[in-house]
Amino acid sequence: MSDEQRPVRPYPFPTRTSEVAPMYEALRRTEPVSRVQLPYGEPGWLVTRHADVRTVLSDPRFSRAVAQGLDQPRLRRENMNDGIMGMDPPDHTRLRKLAMKAFTARRVERMRAEVHKIADGLLDAMVARGRPTDLVEHFARPLPVTVICGMLGVPIEDYPRFTRWTEAFTNNESALGDVVATVGPEMDAYIADLIGQRRLRPTDDLLGALVRARDDGDKLTETELIDLAGAGLLTAGTETVSAALPGFVYTLLEHPEALAALRRDRSLMPSAVEELLRYVPINSAAMFPRYALTDVELSGVTVRAGDPVLPSLAAANRDPEVFADPDVLDLTRKPNPHVTFGYGAHLCLGAQLARLELQVALGLLLDRFGDLALADGVTWRTGVIVRGPGVLPITW
Ligand code: HEM
Repeated sequence: MSDEQRPVRPYPFPTRTSEVAPMYEALRRTEPVSRVQLPYGEPGWLVTRHADVRTVLSDPRFSRAVAQGLDQPRLRRENMNDGIMGMDPPDHTRLRKLAMKAFTARRVERMRAEVHKIADGLLDAMVARGRPTDLVEHFARPLPVTVICGMLGVPIEDYPRFTRWTEAFTNNESALGDVVATVGPEMDAYIADLIGQRRLRPTDDLLGALVRARDDGDKLTETELIDLAGAGLLTAGTETVSAALPGFVYTLLEHPEALAALRRDRSLMPSAVEELLRYVPINSAAMFPRYALTDVELSGVTVRAGDPVLPSLAAANRDPEVFADPDVLDLTRKPNPHVTFGYGAHLCLGAQLARLELQVALGLLLDRFGDLALADGVTWRTGVIVRGPGVLPITW
């Protein structure tokens, strides 16, 4: 089939509730590299096989840097400043290395007790409010915000402001609005002020560590610091987890046998979280298109130099070539090479923190609520970045 003959499908594909759109499965089998048109930007290629998705994410013949300034396929009218997600090695490697100097595995692990304390406190408040209650508003949303604020050293009293900002970057209304022009500068100015304070009086928190991070005399510039702390940590670190957590709770409640097994054997928690990460779609759609730097063949299709390619993580995570019975939730699945945190150079910087938060949060919910159940009124949201329950009423 020539490129001109290929159908160009409107994308994202419609879905109900928490399902992975059935179209992905059909495409993976019959047209694994297909043409799609997003609400904004030029048409692109959608890639649905695990092997191809990994190639697009990790092969240097694909670029994120080239995408900057182009009419990228996207859900939002505005073009965002993609920060670290808009770079290629070696520029990306430099920034990533400096970020990793501050955001170390040790610093994350040190947060375990703190995450536990924060989550426990939120559940105390939730119980005091009585049942039924909305798990999103009272637990899934405040938990990651409180955790990342504590880590960064950002005053939690400013919670209403962050939530307004981070939500503005991700909700559906923002797709049409001009958040980049309005909310962006507000958040940048706020973070610039916190950075200024740390330049005067060094602190031990993550923001202080980012300000101090050095690699052979190299350090993060003011703009890099602002982008990384604002979009990279505050937004990416909160919106994702607050969508994943209620999605995981909903999925467990819909799979009572899996939930009972996890209650019986809590040593399953790490593999359960990996499986929920694989199984529950968190992204609204494939995003961050990579531009081919040269002609590349993917599953028999030639992607031309200059074409944008969208890797579907949700589709890759259900590829039967890699996952036996991909549509079955198997909390003991091992190995589980899901690509929910991406793959290659841009592999999620916060993956370990996200895992920690999800494991601790689910563990505490099971500990404290022996008869956790859904109440009436679940609603679903699909924003420009993440999807998941908008309201998850629970009772116990
Ligand atoms: C369940 C939660 C999360 C999911 C599913 C998730 C998913 C992802 C994915 C798929 C990417 C790579 C995108 C691509 O290559 O196209 C990414 C990158 C990134 N994530 Fe996450 N993320 C989560 C939580 C977090 C947290 C908690 C933080 C920070 C505190 C964070 C910070 C970042 C940053 C900074 C990048 C860019 C890394 C780079 O460009 O080198 N994420 N994330």
